[in-house]
Amino acid sequence: MSDKYLKVFYGTMTGNAEDLATQVQEKADELGYETDLVDLADYPAADLAKEKEISIVISTWGDGDPPDEAEQFCFDLYDGKVDSLAGLKYSIVALGDSSYDDFCGCGRKVDESLSKLGATRVLERPDLDIDFEDGFEEWLEKYVAYLQSK
Ligand SMILES: Cc1cc2nc3c(=O)[nH]c(=O)nc-3n(C[C@H](O)[C@H](O)[C@H](O)COP(=O)(O)O)c2cc1C
Repeated sequence: MSDKYLKVFYGTMTGNAEDLATQVQEKADELGYETDLVDLADYPAADLAKEKEISIVISTWGDGDPPDEAEQFCFDLYDGKVDSLAGLKYSIVALGDSSYDDFCGCGRKVDESLSKLGATRVLERPDLDIDFEDGFEEWLEKYVAYLQSK
């Protein structure tokens, strides 16, 4: 795998996280990265130990819960069913709705779990409300600068 490889993940119910993850992938492509866009529904958390550079966009449902199809990935991660992630760099964008008690709870828990397993977060996590576009663009600008600097 080349140094310029990025795997972009999304966990979604109604498509918002997938749309934003697609935008991350497009920017990385423009910068000459090799990329893959992957639904967390199709990815075993244990495989994270093989990755070097990832970006995740994930929403929160229920009451701080993962999107249904990303449950297995998230619960395995929360339960630490993953080897050390000391070699992994990641960014994460959390989507939610601040009218819920556990605002962006899933993104926060995924972030905390990755960090606990030794992975390095390369940018601060934005917790984005229902009007997420401006906050996302601001974050994406910073993420592009990070990818360029590598
Ligand atoms: C039934 C329902 C439950 C939700 N629960 C939460 C929640 O607990 N916390 C939160 O921050 N957002 C919650 N949300 C908001 C979603 O995370 C938000 O609409 C997000 O943009 C959806 O992204 P997606 O299309 O990628 O799934 C909920 C939305 C619905 C409709």
